[in-house]
Amino acid sequence: MSARAIAYRRGRLFIEDVPAERIAEAVGTPTYVYSALEILCRYRAFEEAFIAREHLLCYALKANPNRAICRLLAREGAGADIVSVGELKRALGAGVPPDRIVFSGVGKTDEELGAALRAGILAVNVESSEEAQRLESMARRLGRRAPFAVRLNPDVDGGTHAHVTTGRAGTKFGVPMAEAAAIYRRARGGSRLDAVGVQCHIGSQITKTGPYRAAMKTLLAIVDAAAGMGLRLQYADIGGGMGIVYDRAIPRGSAASEAMVAADKGRDLAPRRLAEVLLPALKFRPGLKLLLEPGRCLVGPAGVLLTRMLYRKEGGKKRFVVVDAAMNDLIRPALYGARHPIVPVRPRKGALRAADVVGPVCESADFLAKGRRLPPLEPGDALAVLQAGAYGFSMSSQYNSRPRAAEVLVEGSSFRVVRNRETFADIVRHEKA
Ligand code: LLP
Repeated sequence: MSARAIAYRRGRLFIEDVPAERIAEAVGTPTYVYSALEILCRYRAFEEAFIAREHLLCYALKANPNRAICRLLAREGAGADIVSVGELKRALGAGVPPDRIVFSGVGKTDEELGAALRAGILAVNVESSEEAQRLESMARRLGRRAPFAVRLNPDVDGGTHAHVTTGRAGTKFGVPMAEAAAIYRRARGGSRLDAVGVQCHIGSQITKTGPYRAAMKTLLAIVDAAAGMGLRLQYADIGGGMGIVYDRAIPRGSAASEAMVAADKGRDLAPRRLAEVLLPALKFRPGLKLLLEPGRCLVGPAGVLLTRMLYRKEGGKKRFVVVDAAMNDLIRPALYGARHPIVPVRPRKGALRAADVVGPVCESADFLAKGRRLPPLEPGDALAVLQAGAYGFSMSSQYNSRPRAAEVLVEGSSFRVVRNRETFADIVRHEKA
């Protein structure tokens, strides 16, 4: 579902009721801009799809941990899926109740396990037998119980990019069936471990339902195996990974931009489609709660990266559009070959021409798009890189001593900076000459 919060009106790109150009002028570029309405609509669509069953949506903070966004979702009742003590602090600070927080990751330190237990989170998703052991000794040291879920590696192929495949045997994530059973066995009588659930996360950017159906089957097999040991698990957590279609999401309303719509390569994995496979699978499991950990699909389409064109150039039969955003701002094209749509904030009339959109960083991997058909552009024109709300700012860096971009949240006709643009002083703050 899309709120169409990011769309053209009379030839200008708007984020809700604010012209993108106004934000670019006021805050400068590059700047990430998020629509609160779009995030809320996406969250609510999820809630509605699963309303028939007791469930909890744990927002995967890694997609976009900005405090304003965490707060927005916390106010809606979202839980949090975290992977570090930093994200734990962000989630708690945003007002997510501890008993709605789950903690994944293969390398949790003692500090992190301790902080999670002290905070009283819903569960630590343990990813190895050794971690389960470490968690138990930490609980003993703190005089607490340790609620946990085993992160299962269901050996399911999400059919996604190799860098974001996590549910196959041979990836570093989760544990196989047999080891999962052994960990639950540990949690019987006399242990400080409380088995509360089972979790998996099969990958990211998955647009088909089949892998989820297969993963749920495996989770339920674990629920049964645990029951056989006398452990009643409270929930099955199917993880996140619900995909969005990047190269189809051109906002409506501009002839030029509509001509740029790339080949339709599939559909977003809408919450409703996911519910259609997950809810029937749980039909005969009264009392088993469903957890989901969506990240990208809640915030990705709600964000754009605003940038300005610096120069045009040609070389070796290629045309380049040089912009002021680079791979340090948005690494997804370089790292995953991701195809984010790029549209002028105010399209000029004229024929589309193909160009590589590149940034100022000194690497050939520094591109935002390759061979992209764009309307005529002049230096100074503002462009919006779409679908950039997830894993955009959160994966950005200061490479080439470039300060990280500003972040802006739009709500209706108002907008505010929710993270200042970094300065040179921010870049050198921790260095000693
Ligand atoms: N739960 C766990 C345990 C995860 O590891 C992840 C993502 C999620 C939930 C949320 O997945 P999502 O719904 O956002 O797909 N940087 C990559 C994505 C890496 C995802 C890592 N784990 C990208 O930009 O495509």
